[in-house]
Amino acid sequence: MKVKRFLLIVFVLALGGYGYAQFTGDGSKATIIGSDHDLSDNFTGATAVCEFCHVPHKLSNPTLIVPLLWNVQVKAGPYSTYGSTGASTFNATDIRDPSTASSTNGAAYMSLLCLSCHDGTVTQSNFYQITSGMGGAGSISPPNIGEQSSAGLSNDHPVDFTYSAALATEDGGLRTPTEGASVRIPYVGAGNLPLFKDTASATSGRVECATCHNPHNQSPNGSGKFLRMSNNASALCLNCHST
Ligand code: HEC
Ligand code: HEC
Ligand code: HEC
Ligand code: HEC
Repeated sequence: MKVKRFLLIVFVLALGGYGYAQFTGDGSKATIIGSDHDLSDNFTGATAVCEFCHVPHKLSNPTLIVPLLWNVQVKAGPYSTYGSTGASTFNATDIRDPSTASSTNGAAYMSLLCLSCHDGTVTQSNFYQITSGMGGAGSISPPNIGEQSSAGLSNDHPVDFTYSAALATEDGGLRTPTEGASVRIPYVGAGNLPLFKDTASATSGRVECATCHNPHNQSPNGSGKFLRMSNNASALCLNCHST
């Protein structure tokens, strides 16, 4: 009897601390075809899918460096940040405007890339390189989350701040994230949600748009909102906001 109870406790501890697979990437990219992120229908004669976001060569901008072969003009900002209106219970102190993304602020790109579309209208002239498959004229109007120089990101879930074990302790209501220089892409708790590091040697990661969303997979859990895990009964929120 005692042995069984011991095993049960070990099992529960394992689930709480070590039972989750480490985040390993976004998985197959084929799921994007036919989704709201397949923009081939929006541009006359277009057949390409990936190229609206990632392009194999930037011939027209040979010196331009944005990660992930990014093909949508990134915005200059500024984006106002969460807490700038004086939210008194917010503990994180290093929240940034994602438009400060750079080689030393690398994580910020994981929000800035989304905002290159999700703060207004995008037409063919907003792509750095137009490949033969990207067709002719057209436009898209993604839901406007950011809007530079106005409410910006101040009325959205905070992004581009460090979610460390120390923050979890200070807040008192957050699950402790995995940390360490050897963790290339850290993850948080049960849902394999990734946090993003500024540099490879950083020990903790940051919450970005791509922490909650996988741009390549719209409905793995029926949400239709590109969520990395189901938010039924607020499971996505509770993945982090539980101890
Ligand atoms: C609507 C924009 C968009 C489209 C279209 C898109 N991606 Fe991505 N992709 C992103 C963003 C944003 C990231 C960075 C965040 C992340 O990793 O989820 C990314 C990351 C990646 C990565 C690096 C992360 C990893 O999982 O290895 C690869 C590789 C990739 N995309 C391949 C593709 C391929 C192949 C296609 C076409 C089948 C494609 N993408 C279409 C937006 C897009
Ligand atoms: C990847 C983990 C993660 C997920 C998923 C997540 N949050 Fe958060 N959230 C955080 C962290 C970390 C903070 C910063 C807490 C702090 O610094 O006080 C935060 C901050 C907040 C705040 C602001 C708190 C304050 O004191 O101002 C609210 C409200 C919030 N989250 C609600 C939600 C809701 C609702 C969901 C689901 C839709 C959600 N969160 C999903 C990690 C997460
Ligand atoms: C190339 C432009 C582009 C990029 C980059 C992009 N999106 Fe989108 N996104 C769109 C378009 C267009 C739609 C579809 C809008 C519609 O059909 O009304 C969309 C739809 C969505 C939706 C579903 C909206 C709804 O109303 O159901 C979510 C969620 C979303 N995107 C999140 C993201 C996130 C997060 C990123 C970055 C990881 C990202 N997107 C990058 C263009 C983009
Ligand atoms: C903490 C998790 C979290 C983060 C971080 C986050 N989102 Fe979302 N987002 C959600 C959830 C949950 C929904 C679904 C809300 C619903 O069902 O209506 C959503 C919905 C959306 C939608 C669809 C809006 C609509 O009208 O339904 C877009 C577009 C979007 N997010 C883009 C972004 C962008 C861009 C960022 C970064 C600036 C971002 N998200 C950061 C959790 C997050």
